Amino acid sequence: MRINLSNIKKAKKLLNKSECVAIPTETVYGLAGNAYSDRACKKIFKLKKRPKYNPLIVHYYNYQKLRKDCYFNDNFLKLYRRFCPGPITFILNLKKDSKISKVATNKKNTLAVRFPKHSITRNLLKELKFPLAAPSANLSSEVSAVRSSDVKEDFGKKIKYVLEGGKSSIGVESTIIDLRNKPKILRLGGLDILTIQKELHKKIIINNNPSKASTPGQLKLHYSPGIPIRLNVKKIKDEEAYLLIKKKEKTKPNYYFLSKKGDLREAAKNLYSTLRKIKKSKYKSIAVSKIPNKGLGKTINDRLIRASKL
Ligand code: TXA
Ligand code: MG
Repeated sequence: MRINLSNIKKAKKLLNKSECVAIPTETVYGLAGNAYSDRACKKIFKLKKRPKYNPLIVHYYNYQKLRKDCYFNDNFLKLYRRFCPGPITFILNLKKDSKISKVATNKKNTLAVRFPKHSITRNLLKELKFPLAAPSANLSSEVSAVRSSDVKEDFGKKIKYVLEGGKSSIGVESTIIDLRNKPKILRLGGLDILTIQKELHKKIIINNNPSKASTPGQLKLHYSPGIPIRLNVKKIKDEEAYLLIKKKEKTKPNYYFLSKKGDLREAAKNLYSTLRKIKKSKYKSIAVSKIPNKGLGKTINDRLIRASKL
């Protein structure tokens, strides 16, 4: 994607005035505002209709810029060096004198931190004097946005500006890892946990389904297209859309393929845009064929399971 400097300048100007701007990232689009400004963070919650107790994830250009706000540890530095910028979010301890808005954190003493890889957003972050609070740019509990048109569909004119960045190359949200004590995965995402494990040379606890959700990204209903979803389906019903991982020779108008060859990366990239397409096509429900539970397939299954808890 070519970098259009005047677009970045426009986004910067609005963000400097505590306005919200949608930004592209390699995972999904984010709804961004100045993370040091209560006013900007309040606007994000309002636009997304997000419950106040659900803290905002904050985006930085690099770890030097994060130093003022959070404490680092060895695991963080290891994973940062290997995977950042990229689709991983770290939960770290917040410094007492950090300028991060208490609206963003809901007064918690931890912070979810990410370094997005998308070149346009990196360009923007480099220029700004503050980090960007930016949850996914969709209405709370609904399907995430992977194109600027998705964001406009959800928010219309309520958002002052959407920074164009093409379709998100990964297409599912970042993997969240809590690094405060023993590393613990809180959300499966765009970075395969096996590669994280390899880097840390140890098995990591996965805690993305606690009985009492500490993170609303772990709440049961999420990523929902608003119609029922049935999983692992071999035989579909009338008036159902059929979501398949791999292109079949015999296809029908209600068949939707996430990938041509059953490639899980390609499938993840197409997941949310396909759910949005189905949602617009007036089907009563969605049947999903079995998706291999490995690599990004695990993340796709996680999202579909949550989307199915209608
Ligand atoms: O890929 C992504 O992570 C995208 C892009 C835009 O960066 N962002 C994203 O944001 O998915 P959001 O808000 O939809 O999901 C972030 C998750 C939420 O479930 C939130 O509850 C959790 O991170 N979170 C935020 N702060 C936290 C904290 N201090 N401790 C634990 N979880 C936290
Ligand atoms: Mg989200």
